[in-house]
Amino acid sequence: MLKQAVKEPLMYEKSIELLKQAVADELSGVHQYMYFHFHCDDQGLDLISNLFRRTAIEEMMHIERIAERILFLKGEVELKPSHEPAKILDVREMLAVACRLELQSIQDYNQWANVCASHSDSVTRKLFEDLVVDEERHFRQYDDEQGNIGRYGESYLAQQSMERSRNVAAAAPVRQGKPGA
Ligand SMILES: [Fe+2]
Ligand SMILES: [Fe+2]
Repeated sequence: MLKQAVKEPLMYEKSIELLKQAVADELSGVHQYMYFHFHCDDQGLDLISNLFRRTAIEEMMHIERIAERILFLKGEVELKPSHEPAKILDVREMLAVACRLELQSIQDYNQWANVCASHSDSVTRKLFEDLVVDEERHFRQYDDEQGNIGRYGESYLAQQSMERSRNVAAAAPVRQGKPGA
């Protein structure tokens, strides 16, 4: 314990604790959004499916940035999600959960940025502030999709499925053994 206390100055202990919590939350987000991506893809909802996939990749890139900071502060990275993905198949419920997750991240990271500032760790403070910018954008994208479904109803979702069918039907036939033909 003494060795660890010497290795990690007291001012960074709180930052490492918060960064580790952030990794666990981001990992949960990756799992949840990939789960939603798979099921939206299965339902032929290409636009929303791609939004979940793209956001999951961005959350994974957040993990990378947070992990780099943890290691710089001589902490250890544990890749344990804070919770299991909710098994939801209804796209409206998916978007409601996604909005809640993003709002929670925005609230947490804003608070944690202030905690890091009070512990004189301006770099981790700035990292959390940068993450908030992305989480606010994620929230807006999910919220916009909720708004589209609310405004256009089933026809908005039906159009995505029809678009998928049109693209499949219009695609050139695959000729076996002739890639790119
Ligand atoms: Fe994130
Ligand atoms: Fe996010």
